[in-house]
Amino acid sequence: MSVVERFLKKIPQYTRNSRHLRSVIQHGSISKWSNLVRAELERKRRCIELKSFPYILIIDPCNYCNLRCPLCPTGVKDLGREQSMMSFESFKKYFDPLSPYLFEAYMHNWGESLLNKDSYKMIEYASNKNVGTNLSSNLATLNSEGIDNLLDCGLEYLVVSLDGTSQEAYGQYRVRGSYERVMHNMSEIIRRRNLRGQKIPVVEWQFIVMKQNEHQVSDAQKIADKMGVDVMRFIPVGMPYDFKNRKELADKWFPEKVKGKVESTHEEQKYGQDSRPSPCFYLYRSMVVNADGGVSPCCEVYREKNDFVNLNSSEINVRQLWNSPVYQSARSLFSSKVLEDHVRSVCDGCDIFLQHPSKNSYKEFPVIVNKK
Ligand SMILES: C[S@@+](CC[C@H](N)C(=O)[O-])C[C@H]1O[C@@H](n2cnc3c(N)ncnc32)[C@H](O)[C@@H]1O
Ligand code: SF4
Ligand code: SF4
Repeated sequence: MSVVERFLKKIPQYTRNSRHLRSVIQHGSISKWSNLVRAELERKRRCIELKSFPYILIIDPCNYCNLRCPLCPTGVKDLGREQSMMSFESFKKYFDPLSPYLFEAYMHNWGESLLNKDSYKMIEYASNKNVGTNLSSNLATLNSEGIDNLLDCGLEYLVVSLDGTSQEAYGQYRVRGSYERVMHNMSEIIRRRNLRGQKIPVVEWQFIVMKQNEHQVSDAQKIADKMGVDVMRFIPVGMPYDFKNRKELADKWFPEKVKGKVESTHEEQKYGQDSRPSPCFYLYRSMVVNADGGVSPCCEVYREKNDFVNLNSSEINVRQLWNSPVYQSARSLFSSKVLEDHVRSVCDGCDIFLQHPSKNSYKEFPVIVNKK
């Protein structure tokens, strides 16, 4: 391990994941690394006003979707936000000011990004600016031309959402999706990529383990090995933070037999780092820009009413926004400092904050979040 890798491993969480570590090394520069170190130090010191900028951008090319997954707010039409396609021009407007600091751009949030034909251009643009890209897709609409576009655009990491090894199991969650088509697309991406002698995109088969498919876990692993999938990842099924009938949904979807890492729990879900007495990392590391230009503080939160700002209807640019009153107020929730003009936001009621010892110094502020 090189000196740089050893140093980066010491920096908490983000760089401990080997995929992120690769991005930090591959897409790094002296100024990006200093920004990363500064951001982590500022988080450690619970700073409210930051000199650093986000080093991860989560950006949603569109929040339309062809599928109707029952535990996804987009799938059940309860996103609380108009559906829209991000234009390439808007993408550049949000991306450019942050690009000198970015190691990675997540090219999805709450929709199926490949429905936006400009997504390929956006990925290519990011990659030409030395920013790593990753994308999670249901691959359920991709055709042969789309596969070539995906291989041409410079995407580094592709997550394929495929939960099952039969139409019967897969189709219960990925409503309207065709197992055959997704399987074909995934194997075709790997086949054509290898034929071209390309190393990217790295292909991850992501399998959400649920009651409906838990019996297929070992079959899936065998198929993945045979097919040459680069990463097989089984993940627990989650539930959006404000879904109401949680017990009923948990009983329906959460697996019964699978134990360990992918086991889901029937308890109320807590998000992020609730057990850690340290500030929420989203407020120091990443920015989330939705398809309509609305900025959410993190990717757990999706409703427009919880936006920190809308970049289309505000004069503020993304760099100014990072130290705006609403961002500073959210960070102050993790410090003992109480801001006089505290701006309430969704972060005030978040589980992470409620678990934090500084809640004792918290006072109710009647101010409503600044929006638009
Ligand atoms: C909202 S989706 C958007 C991207 C794309 N439409 C897709 O499904 O891959 C973002 C990620 O959430 C995952 N996801 C969907 N439902 C989930 C659930 N109930 N629990 C955990 N992850 C889920 C998807 O598989 C995907 O990786
Ligand atoms: S495919 Fe993705 S965005 Fe579409 S409904 Fe399912 S999880 Fe949501
Ligand atoms: S809502 Fe919670 S997890 Fe999201 S940014 Fe705010 S404090 Fe962090």
